Amino acid sequence: MDANVLHPLPANDFPPPAHVAVIMDGNGRWAKARGLPRTAGHKKGADALRGVMQACRDAGVRYLTVYAFSSENWKRPAGEVLDLMQLLKLYIDRETDALYAKGVRLRFIGDRALLAPDVRSMVETAETRTAKNSAFHLTVGLSYGARQELVRAARRLAEAARRGECAPEAISEASFADALDTRDLPDPDLLIRTGGEQRLSNFLLWQSAYTELYFTPVLWPDFTPAHFAHALDEFTRRERRYGNAC
Ligand code: FPP
Repeated sequence: MDANVLHPLPANDFPPPAHVAVIMDGNGRWAKARGLPRTAGHKKGADALRGVMQACRDAGVRYLTVYAFSSENWKRPAGEVLDLMQLLKLYIDRETDALYAKGVRLRFIGDRALLAPDVRSMVETAETRTAKNSAFHLTVGLSYGARQELVRAARRLAEAARRGECAPEAISEASFADALDTRDLPDPDLLIRTGGEQRLSNFLLWQSAYTELYFTPVLWPDFTPAHFAHALDEFTRRERRYGNAC
């Protein structure tokens, strides 16, 4: 079946997911298939993100969290890392005002210590500028890896315990979640991965314990609002039991 051909599904009355997470995979293959540099795929990927964010808003989804650059992506060739960082800076520079005006709160999760000072400063400025917005929440995984995030959280709690601020036996699921980068976000209801792989690749491991997973072979730059609508439709057909009996 051609993954790009969408078959209309009947509308239904289920509420949309509150929070959608996306692993935007396939930019490199998209570019390679056209004889273009990988950066061209990432640029087209940034356009696809704009479309999906608007589709989220139209559908009533209030939280969108995307994996833009993983902890493991630092191992890519220096030129590609540089290009991706340039693109991110350009995106933040060009889009923050528009996001602010639309009531979007922009946040970044991941290890900031590894970011170049100019990137870190842009990230912090964009977060501060949009901090009071709440109409829509766009969160970008940047230098993000879930295992690294879990280790950072464990260290935070251990240090608080050492300072005598919390007893080890008082650590709960809620206090652990509060020590994660995603502390103010609800867990994702739906996680979409484009590009054909069917794995989480170190994205939101704690937060996606009960998340519905949706995998599609469509490459991220080709992923349109219509593909997104299809993923939402499939989500509303899932029965979420959270470990309970039927
Ligand atoms: C994975 O495709 C994608 C990335 C590593 C980068 C994703 C970044 C963007 C879409 C840029 C825009 C994001 C923001 C927030 C401005 P890949 O390169 O691994 O593709 P491949 O699997 O085909 O090689």
